[in-house]
Amino acid sequence: MKKLRVLLVGYGPRGIMWSKVIKKNQKAILVGVCDINSNIQNKFSKKFPFFSILEKAIQELNPDIILLCTPPFNRMKDFKICAKYRLPILVEKPLAVNLKEALKLVDFMNKQKLFLMVGLNFRYLPTTTKKINLIKSQKVGKPNFSKFIYERWRDGNLKRLNKYPLYMDYPMLWEQSIHHFDLIRFIYKSNVKSVFATSSNPPWSMYAHDTNVNAILELKNGMLVNYIGNWQSNCKSLNFEWRTDCTKGIIIQKKQFSDLSYRQHNSLNFKNIKLGNFKMWTDDAQLLLLDFIKSIKNNKNLLKTNKDHLNSLSIVDACIKSSKSGKKIIIKNY
Ligand SMILES: NC(=O)c1ccc[n+]([C@@H]2O[C@H](COP(=O)([O-])OP(=O)(O)OC[C@H]3O[C@@H](n4cnc5c(N)ncnc54)[C@H](O)[C@@H]3O)[C@@H](O)[C@H]2O)c1
Repeated sequence: MKKLRVLLVGYGPRGIMWSKVIKKNQKAILVGVCDINSNIQNKFSKKFPFFSILEKAIQELNPDIILLCTPPFNRMKDFKICAKYRLPILVEKPLAVNLKEALKLVDFMNKQKLFLMVGLNFRYLPTTTKKINLIKSQKVGKPNFSKFIYERWRDGNLKRLNKYPLYMDYPMLWEQSIHHFDLIRFIYKSNVKSVFATSSNPPWSMYAHDTNVNAILELKNGMLVNYIGNWQSNCKSLNFEWRTDCTKGIIIQKKQFSDLSYRQHNSLNFKNIKLGNFKMWTDDAQLLLLDFIKSIKNNKNLLKTNKDHLNSLSIVDACIKSSKSGKKIIIKNY
């Protein structure tokens, strides 16, 4: 089977990671890299044609897919160029940093009848798939409420990390909580009905805007989720705990990408769930890329795929509205 030709746009830390992933993918081939900053080239990118103008790269390389790894601002101009050449887009999260802009991007791709998938790689983690399977198995019954804790001191000055979150508004919500909210929807198979949230920035924060979020999410299926997420805790090790209380027991995940177990109501012991070998950041990205290729080839569910991310972004948007107004916000679903 012919491999799909991928043009990688944006060669920052995330793009560099993607270039290595595409190189190992059985169904895709990296045909070139495009970054507006031509000084960014490294040993690896020098093996591929490198462009600093997207349209020129498309004309010369004739790709089948665009992988957009640019920061989440003003993406419409690149979308329009891709659409001119009828190219589907796999774009890094978040699609945009305001809901209105995200809606415009989705509407545009829908009208063009072109696939748009947002890269939510955490959906492909073993902790995610095993949790979904455990819920399906009915061993612990139906999820009823949950506690999601992610406490991190993120050093935004680290060389390997992007710098724009240091200056943008609500960096935690748009850049990190978006992954968590998406997982909540994906695992509990429900959109969110309402949100009450606060957002803040501690006095020691190195970020210009809020890094700390507290939120209560009420899901459409009746579940309640208590969410604490921050990028400026004051301890250098990450504290993660995601607990789900279900009708017949509980599920607990104690590390961000591992340590998943469950305990049935009458049992005295936790049962550990084996996750197998998995290379975080690359294996999940491989699975995401394969899923994107499968969606384009099947050419099914275009509208559903394109608009899915709006239902996660609308949770971020509601958290901001709630923290500003002090009120519970009812969410519109798409
Ligand atoms: N899914 C994940 O786990 C994950 C992890 C890290 C980053 N990301 C996402 O990936 C995206 C990029 O992150 P990053 O850390 O690489 O950011 P970055 O700012 O460090 O790098 C972005 C690169 O894109 C280039 N660029 C900007 N606009 C461009 C344009 N229009 N055309 C071509 N090149 C352009 C910049 O010159 C830069 O080299 C963000 O949306 C971020 O949220 C996702």
